[in-house]
Amino acid sequence: MYSLNGKTAFLTGGSSGITLGIAEKYAKEGMNIVLLARNEDKLAAAKAVIEGHGAACAAIPADVRDAEAMAGAFEIAAEKFGEIDVIVAGAAGNFLAMAKDLKPKGFKTVMDIDAGGVFNTYNAGFPHLRKPGGCLIAISAPQATIPYPAQIHANAAKAAIEQIVRSVAVEWGPLGVRSLGISPGPIADTEGMARLAPTPKALEQAAKAPVLTRLGAKEEVADLAAFLASDHAAYITGTIVPCDGGLGLVGLAGLGG
Ligand code: HXC
Repeated sequence: MYSLNGKTAFLTGGSSGITLGIAEKYAKEGMNIVLLARNEDKLAAAKAVIEGHGAACAAIPADVRDAEAMAGAFEIAAEKFGEIDVIVAGAAGNFLAMAKDLKPKGFKTVMDIDAGGVFNTYNAGFPHLRKPGGCLIAISAPQATIPYPAQIHANAAKAAIEQIVRSVAVEWGPLGVRSLGISPGPIADTEGMARLAPTPKALEQAAKAPVLTRLGAKEEVADLAAFLASDHAAYITGTIVPCDGGLGLVGLAGLGG
């Protein structure tokens, strides 16, 4: 259905959450999968899940903040599968901290993982990306445009990611490379929600925030990622597509103020 069969996807933060959900969808569509993440145990478990769908999978332990390691990871991926068709930049870090309490090191850490990580991934991936035909998908968040409290680090980092998406679209579009973002709202069963809505009450409030008044499912984000990576989206680039149940329409009001 999605014209992805036989292609190769490289996913950072691919060992869990939304990005593993995307990797599973891509695997079911017949893609070769490269997962990159820090935690080797989580990576091994995720690799088994992907192989369970019948896909070939390479799992590479690395930190997206390490530019040299990212270059090495793409070398390994290209050696195994050839040119990379789709890169999903999904690695992220987050926690709740008010601006007055957040240490500069904490702000920098999240900027480095989220925004710096997307840059490092695209910069290292470029030589191995299929041109024409490559597709980049960065995972943003409503924080990019909605200034959530206790999220100054993620708000800034996700805004930077969205401008990276557009910058790369302009520079690499003439080469036939598309650059897109997905902005997921509150998605059930993810580490992000566990961190941002750690109590049942907070989770209930988060579920009511989107105009569709429910949490999203990882599969719903994965379906969008499959569409965007496919030939069906061949004339779409440089934009961020929300998959947020309409959260962006109501912003902070969705959280009750
Ligand atoms: C305040 C904190 C903190 C906390 C860390 N810091 N945790 N500040 N509250 N709970 C600050 C401290 O200043 C700390 O340094 C500095 O960040 C670095 O923390 P480390 O733990 O040493 O860094 P590191 O091991 O690199 O871990 C990065 C991390 C961690 C982001 C802090 O939580 C992580 O690795 N997370 C990855 C998984 C994750 O967060 N997934 C959820 C993404 S969800 P000092 O020296 O002061 O201790 C997401 C979705 C958002 O992004 C949108 C949803 C709608």
